[in-house]
Amino acid sequence: MKKLLITGASGFLGWHLCQLAKQEWEIYGTYLSHPLEIPGIKMLKVNLTDFRELQRIFSDVKPTAVIHTAAHSQPNFCQTHPEESHAINVTASCNIAGLCADNSIPCAFTSTDLVFDGLNAPYRESDFVCPVNLYGEQKAIAEAGMLERYPMTAVCRMPLMFGAATPTAKSFIQPFIQTLKAEKELNLFVDEFRTPVSGKTAAKGLLLVLEKVNGIIHLGGKERISRYDFGKILVEVFQLPATKLKSCRQQDVEMAAARPADVSLNSSKAFALGYEPLSLRKELQELIIE
Ligand SMILES: NC(=O)c1ccc[n+]([C@@H]2O[C@H](COP(=O)([O-])OP(=O)(O)OC[C@H]3O[C@@H](n4cnc5c(N)ncnc54)[C@H](OP(=O)(O)O)[C@@H]3O)[C@@H](O)[C@H]2O)c1
Repeated sequence: MKKLLITGASGFLGWHLCQLAKQEWEIYGTYLSHPLEIPGIKMLKVNLTDFRELQRIFSDVKPTAVIHTAAHSQPNFCQTHPEESHAINVTASCNIAGLCADNSIPCAFTSTDLVFDGLNAPYRESDFVCPVNLYGEQKAIAEAGMLERYPMTAVCRMPLMFGAATPTAKSFIQPFIQTLKAEKELNLFVDEFRTPVSGKTAAKGLLLVLEKVNGIIHLGGKERISRYDFGKILVEVFQLPATKLKSCRQQDVEMAAARPADVSLNSSKAFALGYEPLSLRKELQELIIE
């Protein structure tokens, strides 16, 4: 069986990816500070920012392909911890591309819609990047650095993702649901737009493009939606108390990292390859069934 190395298996997306990929691959998943067991997956503790540890993983596992999802993925954390986040988001990513190049194996990297400034959505793969925060900047530098070291890399720009909580990670919907269930006020932006998908759909997209795409590909959803309108669908599908869902604007909330207004992705290239995100309502309904 082919061996797939998934970095960040203890993270939200990495865990969902492991669940799906184990049907066809022998999976080696990495974690750092959140040890966990995933049935059928060999878990390895590795600090990816340590080049020797990274080299050792490659020579021990001898992967047939790599999907690199590990990152500091919170923009506010990256803004306040520039060096620590650069080490994993940029340096480790470029090193992983280099090792994949040395071994001539497929490499997929999870970048972000936040490489854009939010002023000219929907964005295509060929549009210029212009991040407004450090996290977006680090991902944009990693994209270029990885492609320079290994042009065969599939640079996958991921949209906002949501889904079932995993043993060691959650998505943004869990705190939303908790807040509303506790009848506390939940303020969501009416002026911030994304093209979200579930972690499961994103995982399907990554596996689809891993061996098919070289260069940049967008894996956004089919619906452009504001955070507030997403909240309204969530309330409906999960039958949550609606009175405490309130609208606000980006300028009402002060945060360490600046936020772009509309980073919706045009993902028609991936749709043509067979990437098929469901409607948001359907995706959320599936979470209830699961
Ligand atoms: N979530 C989203 O909506 C979203 C949107 C666009 C793009 N993305 C990108 O998609 C990817 C997955 O996001 P996510 O939300 O699943 O991330 P996440 O839940 O924050 O998980 C991050 C993962 O990276 C690992 N990690 C961090 N630093 C590490 C290091 N130095 N060495 C080894 N592992 C390290 C963590 O391991 P431990 O927890 O074990 O320490 C964890 O497994 C990221 O590249 C992110 O930038 C996410």
